[in-house]
Amino acid sequence: MAGTVGAQAFESVEVGQSSRSANPANIDALLDQMTLDEKIGQLVQRMGGRSKALNSRLGPDELEKVRRGEVGSYLHVAGAEPLRELQRVAVEESRLGIPLLFSMDVVHGYRTIFPVPLAMAASWDPDTAVRHARIAATEASAAGLHWTFAPMVDIARDPRWGRIVEGAGEDAFLGSRMAVAQVRGFQGSDLAAADTIIAGAKHFGAYGAAEGGRDYAGAEVGKRTMQEVYLAPFRAAAEADTASYMTAFNAVDGVPTTGNAALLRTMLRDEWGWEGLLLSDWRAVEELMAHGVAGSRSDAARLALEASVDMDMVADVYAADLKAAIDADPALVPLLDQAVRRILETKRTLGLFDDPYKYHDAARESRVILSDDHRAAARTAAQRSIVLLKNEGDVLPLAKDAQHIALIGALADDALSQLGSWRARGMAEDVVTLRAALEAAHPNVTFAPGADSRSDDASGIPAAIAAAQSSDLIVLALGEDFDWSGEARSRSSLELPGRQRELFEALAATGKPLVVVLMGGRPLAIPEIAEKADAVLQTWLLGIEAGPAIVATLFGENNPGGKLPASFPRTTGQVPVNYDFLPSGRPADPDLTKDTARYMDQPITPLYAFGHGLSYTDFAYGEPMLDRSEIAADGGALTISVDVTNSGARGGDEVVQLYMRDPVANVSRPVKQLRGFRRVALAPGETKRVSFTLTADQFALWGPSGGWVIEPGEIELMIGSASDDIRGRTSFTITGRGAGRIAPAAIETRTLVMETGQ
Ligand code: BGC
Repeated sequence: MAGTVGAQAFESVEVGQSSRSANPANIDALLDQMTLDEKIGQLVQRMGGRSKALNSRLGPDELEKVRRGEVGSYLHVAGAEPLRELQRVAVEESRLGIPLLFSMDVVHGYRTIFPVPLAMAASWDPDTAVRHARIAATEASAAGLHWTFAPMVDIARDPRWGRIVEGAGEDAFLGSRMAVAQVRGFQGSDLAAADTIIAGAKHFGAYGAAEGGRDYAGAEVGKRTMQEVYLAPFRAAAEADTASYMTAFNAVDGVPTTGNAALLRTMLRDEWGWEGLLLSDWRAVEELMAHGVAGSRSDAARLALEASVDMDMVADVYAADLKAAIDADPALVPLLDQAVRRILETKRTLGLFDDPYKYHDAARESRVILSDDHRAAARTAAQRSIVLLKNEGDVLPLAKDAQHIALIGALADDALSQLGSWRARGMAEDVVTLRAALEAAHPNVTFAPGADSRSDDASGIPAAIAAAQSSDLIVLALGEDFDWSGEARSRSSLELPGRQRELFEALAATGKPLVVVLMGGRPLAIPEIAEKADAVLQTWLLGIEAGPAIVATLFGENNPGGKLPASFPRTTGQVPVNYDFLPSGRPADPDLTKDTARYMDQPITPLYAFGHGLSYTDFAYGEPMLDRSEIAADGGALTISVDVTNSGARGGDEVVQLYMRDPVANVSRPVKQLRGFRRVALAPGETKRVSFTLTADQFALWGPSGGWVIEPGEIELMIGSASDDIRGRTSFTITGRGAGRIAPAAIETRTLVMETGQ
């Protein structure tokens, strides 16, 4: 029966005597009853299937392992009923009856697929992220799951790295807010509730700093950048009580994270005081050998356990080889006990010892999955994630008259791609494409694929030109299909793939108004589009409601309010081009006769900066107001406020952004760092006052000898509409010295929006 999904796959056998400890009064008592093999069994996560063939490995041999207590958790499994049966085998047919943990990558939706995470970050709206994670948890828990491997909180400053699509982009502050929002959404306020699941913030370390943007490659990151940037969203997730983390595959400064005791045991456990479940990434324990830090599997097991990695995903190194390591070094026994205790505590927190079956209600499963409410929330999220990059001559929004529209581009008709990377149980048939939505909304649409992002086939270009010539305007979908971004999907070029550039040039040459709808999972280098298209909408991969969201935006029922969570370079060679770079002794100067920090062959700025995003209306900013000019390093706080007015004729959202700079410090500080933001909705003519309250520890830096240091002196504050569109500046002074507790980017800024009555 191997390879079958469903209850029939699980044969029931008689077990001699079952001393089920359904509800251990205390975990220590349970630990005392466990044999060494049973303890190691808890540390083992096995695959119940593949991500594209869930449950496919749950055959009789696998069940025997469960009965023998050799498995603590499964991944790539799903379904209320099949998992109830699997759980029953663990609880009723194993000696100690310890329930299993069921897990999956539910990254941007379970069946109701939301925009890819990078797109949701472009909403600059943590509430959107909370709602997505809440809905994903509701659906996943109804399908028998306890645990998701999300949020992915890796900072990514190199868009060549395909996994930039899975995270919140280049900034540690925005990334931290999105991390916290998702942890809260997945975990809710009570992990023992039947509709909450544990979050698995990943991939702990500096996975996003992989050299050259090559997935799995090592990272060289300075201590300060490590603490202030890469680790900040993880710290924020810890503050939000993430119940688990996953370790990164790669090495930082030569030390593979999965065996990095200094980073994991000393910093994460001892200094941060985090006591949750630490899981390795897929075979990452085994890969300690390929990294060249372990000479054998038992060596790898020892290193990972010493680093406090509790659970071994898939590799079976703990299962097969930890015992040998323990025989050789009995000092590992207390470390093993700690790991088992943390796993059992996690199971207890979920309430599995009280009721191991509470996640297995098939009626709830069919009721909640892909419900109308969930679909509606996916559409709202998709609308909020769209970024208007360019809108010359206000070509957008389109008039809803009888204009004939040529809809060009294979991506406009590609349902699967809108699901992005990690689609859990998402299905292409659930997706409403741009083509379907536009044809439903508008009477005169001619569709021609023209070219796609994958093939070298240019044969559709002449028909696309013909369609354009007999239309009034062109809506052109360009970019990358889903398979260009995601794990192991790094690119050496950020240009439009396939023959799309040729298609674009041919259509631009027709002289018809040209609206580009840019799709994909990463920032692309698109200088020709920025120059020649009349309007450009960045629509990422928006999930099942992609088409309706884009069409609502084209016609102005949705006024785009998203902003870029990552800078768009002009060329691939310009990366990394993040906004928060360090000043140089020779700052970039456009004058090429001077020797400064710039390229000779490109302007010094990105094509579109971090935080950029236009609207169909305009926003005017008042002068920033500070409530004081001095704060004490030791516990001081201040509030900065600004009035923002919708000065146009249409309602719209503005993301008010607050940046800081420490102009003179013990170490050189970034030219700008995000410290607050708020997305506000404004009716035409309406003004709202947005206030940010910051505490002194939000201006700390990682000191020369480690630790968070608040230095005395001036701090500059900048408020604006984008990192390159600052509308007002002010400054204040910090008096005295102080110590911070956590990374400043991980600290939430209290934000208030007040109606001004104008
Ligand atoms: C990825 C993780 C993922 C895991 C399980 C790995 O290859 O790096 O992000 O959670 O597989 O699917």
